[in-house]
Amino acid sequence: MSGNSKHIHRSAWRCPSNIALVKYWGKRDFQKPMNPSLSFVLQNAFTETSVELHKNGDQKVAFYFDGKPGTFGERIEKYLEHVSGKLPWISKYNFAIHSQNSFPHSAGIASSASSFGALALCLTELDFAMSEKDAGTPDFWKEASELARMGSGSACRSVYPGFALWGQTQLFESGSDEFAISLTAGIHPVFEGLRDAILMVDSGTKSVSSSTGHRLMDNHFFQRSRIAQAYENVNELYLALLTGDLSKFIEVTETEALSLHAMMMTSSPSFILLKPNSLELINRIRRFREKAQIPVCFTIDAGPNIHLLYFQENELDVKAFIERELIQFCENGKWMEDRIGGGPERLMSVSGSEIRNTGKIDLNSQPATRKP
Ligand code: DP6
Repeated sequence: MSGNSKHIHRSAWRCPSNIALVKYWGKRDFQKPMNPSLSFVLQNAFTETSVELHKNGDQKVAFYFDGKPGTFGERIEKYLEHVSGKLPWISKYNFAIHSQNSFPHSAGIASSASSFGALALCLTELDFAMSEKDAGTPDFWKEASELARMGSGSACRSVYPGFALWGQTQLFESGSDEFAISLTAGIHPVFEGLRDAILMVDSGTKSVSSSTGHRLMDNHFFQRSRIAQAYENVNELYLALLTGDLSKFIEVTETEALSLHAMMMTSSPSFILLKPNSLELINRIRRFREKAQIPVCFTIDAGPNIHLLYFQENELDVKAFIERELIQFCENGKWMEDRIGGGPERLMSVSGSEIRNTGKIDLNSQPATRKP
């Protein structure tokens, strides 16, 4: 340990996962996006991570997941090696890293965004302390977002509350391909009540790994039009967020989810990740919107599960709809409730390697009864 008492050697953060409304799909250079993306953070799905620095021992990274030695250690070691270009002090220490997720692996929520978000926040806090920089400035979040991006692109959008935008656009001078920016200011209050019911279609299906997936855009026939579409959708969606235009919000969100899958279906090799039950859920969500005149829509990640987005004021109707019509198409009737979240939290200083145990989210489970 360094003799300088100002230097802290332990940091712990909780960081949420996020779901993209305009999708990041395709990379250029190192972890830079082909197109801008816009997302919101979840409240219930998060990772908690603590990082301790040591000078003794010869293991660079000891990584524990749920209190047991985890398999992620190698990826983190590579990541730290890379990040040490920016944070040279990394090479002087060995790392003990403890991590846990609030959601089960089978929930189909990408954990790389919350994991790298939490790790990046710990590294940023340590870095600001080491270099005696003021952690109460916007630079803190910018650095955290950039470090998160270097681990996993979508993670850079997880370090802010509410909505975030990643990628250079004409909308904000401060926008960048290197880090995300927060979009909280000026957002219409209706979006404070944004809810996400994650409908589990198939936990066993292997999603396309992100590295394979993004590479599919490299020589994609529709690459140019996809990039143009994403720019346009970011503009339209941001305007809808400012004005509370729910029809536009719904239109852009669904187009983006289906475009992501259209890109996968028409790439070489081609992937069809949607299942018959994913399509059934999509159709039923659209029919419910028409019939009940309630603003609901869906978004989808690179997998078969469906995120049903709705608003707080329609909670009772939408939950009744889920129970009545949707859970029969969910794997073992499983779905998970989430909502737009307040962003990361610094955890209390931790004793030893313990981090606050917040318990796991329960998946709502109903016997899957298919209607004749
Ligand atoms: C479909 O962020 O997982 O979820 O940068 O390789 O870690 P890497 O990719 P990752 O890709 C996420 C793709 C997506 C869309 C999105 O979150 O924007």
